[in-house]
Amino acid sequence: MSCGGDAAPELSAAGQRGQQLSTDLGCAGCHGGDDREATIGPDWTGSWGTDIELDDGSTTTFDALYVERSVRSPDAQRRAGDWIRMPEYRVDQLTEAELADIVVYLEELG
Ligand code: HEC
Repeated sequence: MSCGGDAAPELSAAGQRGQQLSTDLGCAGCHGGDDREATIGPDWTGSWGTDIELDDGSTTTFDALYVERSVRSPDAQRRAGDWIRMPEYRVDQLTEAELADIVVYLEELG
């Protein structure tokens, strides 16, 4: 794509689809990412591969599995801190292929 011209990171085709999905589905509205500030949810930018503290006191790594769990069963793994509830996305709202694209996008965000 040649549109844009902002300082966003270079994204692969899958990463671009994931970025589009996260805008279309409203994820970016809470999480930021696309040059936007995170508002309601944790900021995705710079999260990949870092340690995330959960509200049961345990720590997990921000990776593909963590992202998938956060989307499919957000209550199973709440992040520590004073957050509202993350909405759950079932397969009929977000397919496995689409979720995989979002995972690529988050990884490429760094
Ligand atoms: C209404 C706002 C909102 C929307 C929309 C939303 N989220 Fe979230 N999300 C949150 C909040 C708040 C948390 C932190 C609370 C928690 O862990 O349960 C969170 C947590 C997460 C986490 C864990 C992040 C971390 O740093 O620990 C991931 C990954 C995530 N969301 C992905 C998504 C994806 C992908 C979408 C779209 C398909 C999405 N979210 C849509 C509010 C939102």
